[in-house]
Amino acid sequence: MALPNIFVLTGAGVSAESGLSTFRDKDGLWTQYPLEEVASIQGYERNPGRVLAFYNLRRSKLFEAKPNAAHFALAQLEAAWAARGAIITLCTQNIDNLHEQGGSKRPIHMHGELSKSRCHDCGDVRIADGDLLLTLGCMACGRIGGLRPHVVWFGETPLFLDEIYDALSTADLFVSIGTSGAVYPAAGFVSMAREAGVSTMEINLEPSENADAFDSAHYGKASEAVPAWVAEMIALAH
Ligand code: APR
Repeated sequence: MALPNIFVLTGAGVSAESGLSTFRDKDGLWTQYPLEEVASIQGYERNPGRVLAFYNLRRSKLFEAKPNAAHFALAQLEAAWAARGAIITLCTQNIDNLHEQGGSKRPIHMHGELSKSRCHDCGDVRIADGDLLLTLGCMACGRIGGLRPHVVWFGETPLFLDEIYDALSTADLFVSIGTSGAVYPAAGFVSMAREAGVSTMEINLEPSENADAFDSAHYGKASEAVPAWVAEMIALAH
């Protein structure tokens, strides 16, 4: 039997048990920092040093974080499907690299990547393995002080949207994992999937803001609920 092509969207909840803060939980990042100051293009232009320091701190926490059972399970699903010529598209809102560390081949980072820098001037993107500072120059154009995290801020357009919408509309199943459904366009993917006749499922610690839009749901910690769901799907493949 042909396996369903699955589009998986992940959010901060999938990395919570790896020790990385989410945004809107009770101790989330947006309860500690004003998001418009540290995660908007206006905040960067007003005070670039403060924004660089915010992401330097998050990048340093990333170096200590390890993938959890949810990341590994999603990579296992990807491999099982690839072995049978079926497709798993993994789109993440997260800027950490825990999906890659867990074995996922090519997660689509629609909000960019903490481990990369981008030159505000020439657009050059490259690996940033240390702090980004205003004293650093761009390796491509030489401009000093223009290096920013390769991260999509509020007020900017997410990356890879054409590829995302194409994969979403041709999937058989849309699964949203560990996201609050608070930020668009990601929060609108479930409606787009429904309009395209795609089945929808949410896996989250608790019902998200658009929980009603999903055909089905599993609630619990990602490190337990995701491996359980993946085991069900892989059993389907045999
Ligand atoms: N297991 C599963 N789900 C969890 C866990 C866990 N261990 N811990 C928290 N969650 C759930 C929360 O219940 C919440 O619904 O993960 C979700 C996290 O929501 P947010 O903190 O809003 O994170 P996210 O949805 O990824 O935010 C989307 O907002 O600020 C922007 O760019 C940022 O990509 C981010 C976007």
